[in-house]
Amino acid sequence: MEIIRVKNAEEGGKKAFEMIKKGMENGAKVLGLATGSTPMTLYKEMTSSDLDFSDMTSINLDEYVGLGGSDEQSYRHFMDVQLFDKKPFKETYVPNGKADDLEAACHTYDQIIEEHPIDIQILGIGQNGHIGFNEPGASFDGTTSVVDLTESTINANQRFFEKAEDVPTKAVSMGIGSILKGKEIILMAYGENKADAIKGMIDGPITPEMPASILQKHENVIVIIDEAAASKL
Ligand code: GLP
Repeated sequence: MEIIRVKNAEEGGKKAFEMIKKGMENGAKVLGLATGSTPMTLYKEMTSSDLDFSDMTSINLDEYVGLGGSDEQSYRHFMDVQLFDKKPFKETYVPNGKADDLEAACHTYDQIIEEHPIDIQILGIGQNGHIGFNEPGASFDGTTSVVDLTESTINANQRFFEKAEDVPTKAVSMGIGSILKGKEIILMAYGENKADAIKGMIDGPITPEMPASILQKHENVIVIIDEAAASKL
């Protein structure tokens, strides 16, 4: 893993943007994208740049079960507002959390990932070390599936919802196996509440209890962290 320490999320967003730009100059066509507050500074750099994404495909990591694109808390809505409305892509994929048949939708999503191998995968990390919505215990070779969110994740996500009971308890998430197929992975983390997860990911044993620890085995991972997230290294 290459570790890049930055002053703050703004500088981290700029660094990640430079990597995407370079990747696109070298032929990258498919971006794996993430939601959450962490990648927002990257998306700001992308939308304020003059880079053209109209030939690019994006594939998002996850979506809440029960929320559709018109729900303001859905990840589809988040991506539209943060990025796609301002920077059109050729095609953008986000799992359908409202599919009648979620199992079939997961299978379709895996086919999409297979047909569009991800060149650069953007990741945040959960406080418990989850990537996408692959919570502790998730299989390292998992594919897209419906997952139960842990209490810690539900609590962390509560800030985006008015009432605690509105926070979804399930999500559709790309599996760790698919994430690992990304040719290059850029994981960003900012703030003290990520310090334990960052320590476990980089220095800890490779174990499903710390899902991000499997990234130690990937040959092209760049970790962009601020001092607070790096404080336990
Ligand atoms: C959610 C998302 C993850 C994200 C994590 C951290 O659980 N599914 O992809 O990395 O939150 O979010 P934040 O960046 O807001 O800390």
